[in-house]
Amino acid sequence: MRLFCKSGLVKLGVATLCAMAAVSTAHAQEGGSPEENAVALRQSLFKLIGYSFDPVARILRNQQPFDAATVQKSAARLEGLAPMVPEVFTVDTRKASVKTKAREGIWTNNADFKAKNDAFVKAVANLSAVAKSGDKKTVTQAAAAVGKACGACHDSFRDK
Ligand code: HEC
Repeated sequence: MRLFCKSGLVKLGVATLCAMAAVSTAHAQEGGSPEENAVALRQSLFKLIGYSFDPVARILRNQQPFDAATVQKSAARLEGLAPMVPEVFTVDTRKASVKTKAREGIWTNNADFKAKNDAFVKAVANLSAVAKSGDKKTVTQAAAAVGKACGACHDSFRDK
């Protein structure tokens, strides 16, 4: 990984992974508690989710022209990342002194948290399917539905 990260061939996506590898190495050296490591891992996942969704969000805000290929790429990345969300919340961090925006409800109302993530996974699968059609209106609607799925979970389970 290190050699690879230092090579001059690093592309943008790989650079993000390299940055994450550096972050997790730093944590390992600090000897973070299991809860601190869990928070670092899940925040890293959301950083990647945010990074992957960003071009689509920009298209929705008219900050970038519509381009079906860009949406397809984002959706393909999100299809890999979205199902990982419940996995990175298996460590209950409610009692640990960690800096997190995760709300208690994730553990006290886990069924709803999982349902919100299932809705996110489904919206992403739909976006990926329709992005191939290239039809601007359909793709934009599907993209907006993904944005809503992010927001629905944040409203219930993330502090402002
Ligand atoms: C099932 C719930 C859920 C879904 C779906 C979800 N998020 Fe989140 N997100 C959270 C929670 C909870 C946190 C707070 C994590 C923490 O601080 O430990 C968070 C944090 C974040 C962060 C901050 C990461 C950091 O730097 O600490 C970003 C950015 C983010 N989410 C973007 C998104 C985007 C974009 C989507 C949709 C494409 C999305 N999230 C979907 C629950 C969700």
